Amino acid sequence: MAQPFLEIEGIHKNFGGLSAVNDVTFSMGRDEVLGLIGPNGAGKTTLLRLITSILKPDSGSIRFKGKEIVGLKTWEIVNRGIACTFQNMRPFRRLPIIANVMVSCLSPRAMKSGEWVKKIEAKAMDALEFAGISDMALEKASTLSQGDLKRLEVARAIATEPELLLLDEPFGGLSPAETELMAQSIKRLHKGGRFGRLHSEGPAMIIVEHKLQQLMKIVDRIIVLNFGTVTADGKPGEIVTDKKVIEAYLGEKEM
Ligand SMILES: Nc1ncnc2c1ncn2[C@@H]1O[C@H](COP(=O)(O)OP(=O)(O)O)[C@@H](O)[C@H]1O
Ligand SMILES: [Mg+2]
Repeated sequence: MAQPFLEIEGIHKNFGGLSAVNDVTFSMGRDEVLGLIGPNGAGKTTLLRLITSILKPDSGSIRFKGKEIVGLKTWEIVNRGIACTFQNMRPFRRLPIIANVMVSCLSPRAMKSGEWVKKIEAKAMDALEFAGISDMALEKASTLSQGDLKRLEVARAIATEPELLLLDEPFGGLSPAETELMAQSIKRLHKGGRFGRLHSEGPAMIIVEHKLQQLMKIVDRIIVLNFGTVTADGKPGEIVTDKKVIEAYLGEKEM
């Protein structure tokens, strides 16, 4: 790995007596798309929340582009270039869809690139187009289906122009057709272009997902979490044949 991008070292998070994340260590490169899988309760969402500073680890270090980010405010994390989507979606339901995304465009990080209010709408529209819901831009967010809410989440995240994008179950609740569309959007986004003024190659990504067959097609590498601990780390092909993984996870679900 040329320059360290994201380095997670010995991260712990306890909730009361429960060890939700237990000594997790891994790093990833700028050009990687990383899948994060594991059974329910394995600590995947908690790990994403630790990276975005929604939660503070009990111990351990998280460095982004060589700098410690533990202890920063969540808005400082966004400003450094990390954005995430949430497993439980919470849009501003009474606002039009496009206004939901314009809020992200108002982040100092997105504004730094010299654009101002008039351009924000166009930029939000761009993000909506990317996510595939631009035709509904003026509807209230409360009218969206589960699948379209996911798309809105993605639009809101990418409008901040992240260098690292964390996606928590982007296929959750989607039909097979919607899942396919979302997978294509994610791939396209990683390849870069549109939101890449600061970085032409598109964001690195960590994707938490249970739909493994779809996930395998878009990630370079997979980390398996079980009871808060990393139990496997490798290429998708290696992971599906790993005995511990099959026992802990794949055996009980699809595949
Ligand atoms: N805020 C919280 N307070 C108490 N326990 C929590 C909290 N968040 C998560 N947990 C517990 O931590 C464990 C890991 O949860 P989570 O990270 O959501 O798992 P996953 O996303 O892999 O399904 C679970 O046992 C869950 O019940
Ligand atoms: Mg989760």
